[in-house]
Amino acid sequence: MHVADVRFGERGTDYLYGVDCVEEIVEAVARLAENAESAVFVVDRKVLTHAEPVLAGLGRRMAVHLFVLDAAERHKRLALVEAILEYAVERGADRRSPMVAMGGGLTGNVAGLAAALLFRGIRLVHLPTTPVAAFDSVLSQKQAVNLSAGKNLGGTYLPPSLIACDLTWLTSIPRRDLLTGVAEMAKNVLAMVPPEEPTFLRAVAGLEHRPADSFVALCRLGIEAKLPMLLRDPRERGEAVIFEYGHTVGHALEIVTDGDVSHGEAIAWGMLVAAETSAMLGYLDRSEVDRHHRLLARLRLPSPDARLGPVDRTVLRTVLRGDNKRGYLACGAEEIPMVLLAAPGVPVTQANGRPLSAVPEKIVLAAFDRVAEGRGRADG
Ligand SMILES: NC(=O)c1ccc[n+]([C@@H]2O[C@H](COP(=O)([O-])OP(=O)(O)OC[C@H]3O[C@@H](n4cnc5c(N)ncnc54)[C@H](O)[C@@H]3O)[C@@H](O)[C@H]2O)c1
Repeated sequence: MHVADVRFGERGTDYLYGVDCVEEIVEAVARLAENAESAVFVVDRKVLTHAEPVLAGLGRRMAVHLFVLDAAERHKRLALVEAILEYAVERGADRRSPMVAMGGGLTGNVAGLAAALLFRGIRLVHLPTTPVAAFDSVLSQKQAVNLSAGKNLGGTYLPPSLIACDLTWLTSIPRRDLLTGVAEMAKNVLAMVPPEEPTFLRAVAGLEHRPADSFVALCRLGIEAKLPMLLRDPRERGEAVIFEYGHTVGHALEIVTDGDVSHGEAIAWGMLVAAETSAMLGYLDRSEVDRHHRLLARLRLPSPDARLGPVDRTVLRTVLRGDNKRGYLACGAEEIPMVLLAAPGVPVTQANGRPLSAVPEKIVLAAFDRVAEGRGRADG
């Protein structure tokens, strides 16, 4: 089993990851919670089988209050957080009880927000079971749910006290979702660590026949890409806003399609639109837009025409206007805050160093159309 010391500024959190390491994970959670009489265990219904040995192991040491949720973006709302809080208190959880979140990024965010609110903050343990969660979302203190106007608009910060993943949990993810799920890793490569492109491509190629090796490599890549910035900018309000590359259009797509386009796939499309926008504004060389297309082609995205073509542009524009990065920079009513690239690993920054630009929405929509029509590539 591997142990990474993930630092959110001053605050350190162990990330234990490996293959077939459930017993060590149970031990680690039990050690963390040795002063507790109970734990609140929030689990995605689809991973109940993976949860069984963890529940059995913890159940021998403390009372475990099990809350099962169905992970869908339309459920990622304050009402679900409230239901967890009511359940936890009714079952007798107290300030020493850890909140254990087992599932994808959605479960982690919902349980994370509940942990931040319960008794004004209890310990949070992440047991991620998807690529998005294991390689990316658990490496953040941001906990949030959606409001009607947009994604992740209601939330706060709570660093996890422990992160642990048996990477075999990821093997039950359907292959297509596994591929799009690593789009956040493609984002880390393109926006932050371009020299890691060969590592990423090797890991993606190995997903079919050597998934364990690939998962370990992707986990290490996710941690190493984000760690330096989390150390310097633990609340992701300055230079770490670069983690949002591809997320402006990506989040809008998730909302507009009511979650039909998964988070990973949405981020992949969002990155193509962000690269296209960067090129249209003269920041990014066309050859680098091609590099985006080449890299993301490995994720076997569906045809852009089928996925982006039907999106209602008026609804898309309304959702884009509600993007949660608005307020980080002066943005006119018809401008959209976006992370743009001048080159892989080199964001376009404001004077204060924040990697955000106010982009006229007609440019964003034109870039969206070019991606939807399969244009924008050297051969397109
Ligand atoms: N910094 C952050 O906090 C941050 C970063 C990235 C993403 N996110 C959030 O994470 C969410 C996306 O995460 P996600 O892609 O993990 O989505 P998710 O949690 O919705 O899971 C996707 C689907 O996979 C299923 N699933 C989960 N684990 C499985 C397994 N092992 N086998 C089979 N099916 C499984 C779920 O039931 C769901 O249907 C979004 O809500 C996004 O906003 C947050």
